[in-house]
Amino acid sequence: MGGEERVRWVRRVAVVSAVLGIAVLAGSSGNKGLAGAAEAGRGPVPDARQQLNLARRGKKIFDATPKYASEYVGNELACGDCHAASGRADYAAPLIDVAGLFPMYSARAGHTITLEDRIEECFVRSEAGRPLPRESEEMLALVAYIRSLSKKGANGQPYARRGLAKLPELQGDPNRGRIVYHQCAICHGNDGAGMPPSIPSLWGKGSFNDGAGMNKPAKMAAYVYKNMPQGNPGALTVQDAYDVAAYICRQPRPKFNPAYANF
Ligand code: HEC
Ligand code: HEC
Repeated sequence: MGGEERVRWVRRVAVVSAVLGIAVLAGSSGNKGLAGAAEAGRGPVPDARQQLNLARRGKKIFDATPKYASEYVGNELACGDCHAASGRADYAAPLIDVAGLFPMYSARAGHTITLEDRIEECFVRSEAGRPLPRESEEMLALVAYIRSLSKKGANGQPYARRGLAKLPELQGDPNRGRIVYHQCAICHGNDGAGMPPSIPSLWGKGSFNDGAGMNKPAKMAAYVYKNMPQGNPGALTVQDAYDVAAYICRQPRPKFNPAYANF
């Protein structure tokens, strides 16, 4: 992100967060994270300025998670390494207008989950880490940041380019994928380790664990098809994306801790 774009973005976060902050003051039932904590008597309702500061802090954590939430991260990935452009890139599981969709049914959990639950899932799987306390500054900040990405307020419609691309179901060939991977290795390295924090790891100890959504070849193919190679997305065919995903998902990576199976 260029300096100017960053300034503009920070301003937009400021405006959106201020509006959200006012909604909190007005007692809007939509803001479940902080207002919910306050309603439950767990602390004062944050004012607009506190809300803004929290969202700013949340963006920092989102963009550099191993640095700002190191206690809870087991690898070298930031949220923004997958949720690209700080959670604003189409079909890279953007978090635009997502907050208001929670609580929602989760097929993985088999029950309804909150936004906080969903963040924990990414901590114990994608971040190969451990759950962070619900009342921690990190959790409140991440929730505030994700809420600040909701333009339509807490109960908006799903964003049109939410989630990952819908691809036809194909079978990936890991041997072909190894050849496709040559064009990825320029950045992510022959050993898949990348160069954190600027280029994320695709496998090895710096990467997501084997319980992560990204470790499912179909999900990775959908991510890669729309987003990679970075700077030239669209260069791969759907088959290339499945092949390279089949190759990457076979590589060694951290193990999911079954103690966190409820996330
Ligand atoms: C290794 C990649 C990766 C990392 C790192 C990661 N996520 Fe995710 N996240 C995903 C994928 C994949 C999905 C599911 C997308 C889908 O299937 O539509 C997801 C989904 C989500 C969702 C639900 C989005 C929706 O549309 O319902 C939230 C919220 C979320 N992640 C938050 C976070 C946060 C906060 C962090 C950092 C602590 C993080 N994620 C780190 C890959 C990642
Ligand atoms: C020009 C450098 C570059 C190239 C080439 C490139 N990537 Fe990436 N990749 C990145 C960066 C940087 C990110 C972090 C997200 C972002 O900023 O877009 C990323 C993120 C990812 C992620 C999610 C994060 C993670 O670590 O799991 C996957 C999966 C991925 N790349 C796969 C690929 C594949 C497959 C190719 C080859 C087809 C490829 N990339 C080519 C730079 C690159």
